[in-house]
Amino acid sequence: MKTLHEYADMVEARLDALLPEMADGAYEMGGMPWLLANSMHYSLMAGGKRLRPAMLLAAVEMLGGDAGEALDFACAVEMIHTYSLIHDDLPGMDDDTLRRGRPTNHVVFGVGPAILAGDGLLNFAFETMLRAASAHPQRAAANLAAICEIAHGSGVTGMIAGQAMDLHCERADGGDAGALDYIQRGKTACMFAYPLRAAARLADADAAQLTALSDYGMAFGLLFQATDDLLDVTGSADAMGKTLGKDAASGKLTCVSALGIDGTRARIEREHRAAVDALSIFGARAAFFVQLVDDMVERTH
Ligand code: IPE
Ligand code: IPE
Ligand code: MG
Ligand code: MG
Ligand code: MG
Repeated sequence: MKTLHEYADMVEARLDALLPEMADGAYEMGGMPWLLANSMHYSLMAGGKRLRPAMLLAAVEMLGGDAGEALDFACAVEMIHTYSLIHDDLPGMDDDTLRRGRPTNHVVFGVGPAILAGDGLLNFAFETMLRAASAHPQRAAANLAAICEIAHGSGVTGMIAGQAMDLHCERADGGDAGALDYIQRGKTACMFAYPLRAAARLADADAAQLTALSDYGMAFGLLFQATDDLLDVTGSADAMGKTLGKDAASGKLTCVSALGIDGTRARIEREHRAAVDALSIFGARAAFFVQLVDDMVERTH
């Protein structure tokens, strides 16, 4: 198995090949126009941590599969994640002007083009996965099952559902612990759990392995969003690459608003334990994932 950086580098190189930059003003029949290609490229290649695709690749290798064959699925997960960030930052959603240390997509390209860059990344993600799947017809069942996991996790009962409730609670000015859980499982944890479930499908995992990775991904995601909420209050904007203090200012339902700082720290500890426990069936083979969740507890970006 590789390190997080090595998996991230694989993803970086493949994304750049899948979506190259274009010369200003360039377009041709059957191809993308420069503005669309370059606005997609701008957000995609802006130095994200690549956690979700790296975790997919690491899980495939932990299960004895081939990371090279899974690479386009991993890249698609990062495209979907990036589209969710572009749309999350729009004036009609969180209205943010800084992302990944750069002005947000709509600040640079305008709101309309930013909506289309998000749409473009989402559609291109599925095109990329379906192309990869159809290149190996003998693996069709496993590949389609993986695509289905990614569609489900990022879809209308997963990420989009969480985002919808996030906006609803912001506008309704409140929400209870159940709503907080619904939001964070959807908008964040599903984006970790379902790529890991996809990895399990790609590597022909058994049912116990699928459940273990799924439970780890959910706990990891809940921990990750709890640290995001905490860092919005206690973090450094330079390290995070985004404007902080926004959650309280806009009346978001977050771990900090619902549970307080100490309650958020307790939640982080609880999900940390749950994530590590979920991996027990893998023994020492899960070292990458134990290390990763340990690192997340202390993260500053
Ligand atoms: C940001 O995700 C969105 C949240 C779920 C909090 P990341 O912190 O993984 O963002 P990038 O990809 O590294 O920019
Ligand atoms: C974003 O949650 C989750 C998704 C984009 C799906 P946040 O709104 O808390 O993420 P940041 O803080 O803008 O990165
Ligand atoms: Mg948001
Ligand atoms: Mg946001
Ligand atoms: Mg946040």
